[in-house]
Amino acid sequence: MAETRATTVPDRSAVRSLLRLWPYVRSVRLRLFTAAFVAVLASCTGLVIPLVLKWMVDGPVADRDTAGVWLGALFLLLLGFAEALLFGLRRRLVARPLAHVEAEMRAELYGRLQRLPVAFHDRWASGQLLSRATADLGLVRMFLAFPLTFLLVNSVTIVVGVVIMLLQDWRLGLVILGPAIPVVVMCVYFERRYAVEARRAQDQVGDLTTVVEESVLGIRIIKGFGRHRTQARAFRELTSTLRGTELRKARLLATIWAVIVTLPELAIGAALVLGAVQVADGELSAGTLVAFLSTALALRWPVDSIGFLLAMSQEAATATERYFEVMDEEPERDCVVRSEPSPDAGLRFDGVVFRYPDADPGSRPTLDGVDLHVRPGESMALVGATGSGKTTLTALVPRLHEVTAGRITLDGEDVATLPREELRARVAVAFEEPTLFSASVGENVLMGADDRAGAVELERALAVAQAEFVHALPQGADTQVGEQGLSLSGGQRQRLALARAVVGRPRFLVLDDPLSALDVHTEAAVEAALRQVLADTTALIVAHRPSTVLLADRVALLSGGRVAAVGTHHELLRDNAEYAHLMSGTGRQEDDR
Ligand SMILES: Nc1ncnc2c1ncn2[C@@H]1O[C@H](COP(=O)(O)OP(=O)(O)OP(=O)(O)O)[C@@H](O)[C@H]1O
Ligand SMILES: [Mg+2]
Repeated sequence: MAETRATTVPDRSAVRSLLRLWPYVRSVRLRLFTAAFVAVLASCTGLVIPLVLKWMVDGPVADRDTAGVWLGALFLLLLGFAEALLFGLRRRLVARPLAHVEAEMRAELYGRLQRLPVAFHDRWASGQLLSRATADLGLVRMFLAFPLTFLLVNSVTIVVGVVIMLLQDWRLGLVILGPAIPVVVMCVYFERRYAVEARRAQDQVGDLTTVVEESVLGIRIIKGFGRHRTQARAFRELTSTLRGTELRKARLLATIWAVIVTLPELAIGAALVLGAVQVADGELSAGTLVAFLSTALALRWPVDSIGFLLAMSQEAATATERYFEVMDEEPERDCVVRSEPSPDAGLRFDGVVFRYPDADPGSRPTLDGVDLHVRPGESMALVGATGSGKTTLTALVPRLHEVTAGRITLDGEDVATLPREELRARVAVAFEEPTLFSASVGENVLMGADDRAGAVELERALAVAQAEFVHALPQGADTQVGEQGLSLSGGQRQRLALARAVVGRPRFLVLDDPLSALDVHTEAAVEAALRQVLADTTALIVAHRPSTVLLADRVALLSGGRVAAVGTHHELLRDNAEYAHLMSGTGRQEDDR
């Protein structure tokens, strides 16, 4: 899981990370710019208020002109109104487009996850992917809605405000500006550390998600073995680690905030004393001091908020990095050059070598030179000890993994050069672990066929797989099966997976131990029906039981990463000791005939 961890590159730049969001934001840029402009306008409206105050204090108040004071008050009211209205408008402008940006990014992430190779999913914990699709994208949207605009707005406001103050009285202005340098230095230092903690927290949320997901999916095991305490302890440990990280984040933020709030506050205090002395000496008008101080106070919020706006930006930056770690992964590619088909029909493995990408480089490959030819229309059983690589070999045919060396051809065409869509239309698969999706039974089965297939094909496939139990379900084939078909028995799920494999009448069929959960009678019935389907289909069927093996025309024995022998069941039984041993039932509670 090393890949899912933060590799804190020293020269990582939050800005560079955030700039990668631009393609997604492009489509809403006009609205974002308008919103930022409106917010700048609103903020600067606020800065006019001190100037009106100055006019009031030096003019109507000094002259005891009541009408003038009322006029000033009315003006102030209008300014306040305008400011509120503009800020409201900004919010309206951005809310909807930003929700759209988030949805689009999430959809692209989902699409990418679907197209990434199985090897990627083997490597990444699902919780890490889940948290990227949910929590991290939420942070990104927050950033676009708030810090992105307000970092700009506040900077403009601060600059305008400082210019106004310098124009009022440059000496007081310099007093206020004094703490700027230490504040900036402190900010840079703390934000860096904050980014590290933010990334750590996000990774920990991913780990936590993985634990939650595993305990929900594995609830039967946990309960069955009374492991809920251990599981709860693991969960508690992770949450307390996460809590520690969040607390460190909070402490860092508190420190930044303390610096950002205290230093300017001290400066304002100093300016107040200095200004009062100047007013007493008659060097400064009271109105100017009022305007100066109220400008300084108006800048308090823009300055104070910079701390957490930067913190939010850092979090968004690390979230963006996490997002792009997935998006930057290479999806499955199609070869552009299609090989010339050779006249060689059927399914052929030529010197196929395969090593799992995460396997120890020095170790022997799982498959180490497999040569096998399944003739057209033939059904070949694949037999081998557990862990010998049968599942691995079957997964290579639909290219769930890419061969390390050698090649696999379907009717003479190299699977590596077939467009994936065409390849997967030609080859149907059913795996050991039958997965059903949250959909109706019919939809689950028809996934195996193209869109034209309907009720007739469905019925035929259900009949082949001896899945007539479907008709006894409350809504027949329209019955919804739950997450992973939990409400069905293992054998029922296997039969639906088998029905899915045969519904599209594929030219090539790859079945990984498809009947292991069935009782002998059902198995025999499935076999009889399969024989009819298999008549014109080239099939490779992983089998453990002699009963399943007998269904096949020939048998291949996988041993030591190679096909050690090929022949009929009886030939192998007679000539091959390992095969005879595998089929004899010692070690496995097989052979129920
Ligand atoms: N994703 C993976 N990454 C690394 N190694 C794997 C992976 N999947 C399987 N292996 C290893 O490859 C070897 C072959 O596994 P495979 O699942 O192909 O065996 P099998 O013949 O199907 O066994 P069984 O009869 O128990 O189903 C095993 O040693 C296993 O540990
Ligand atoms: Mg297997």
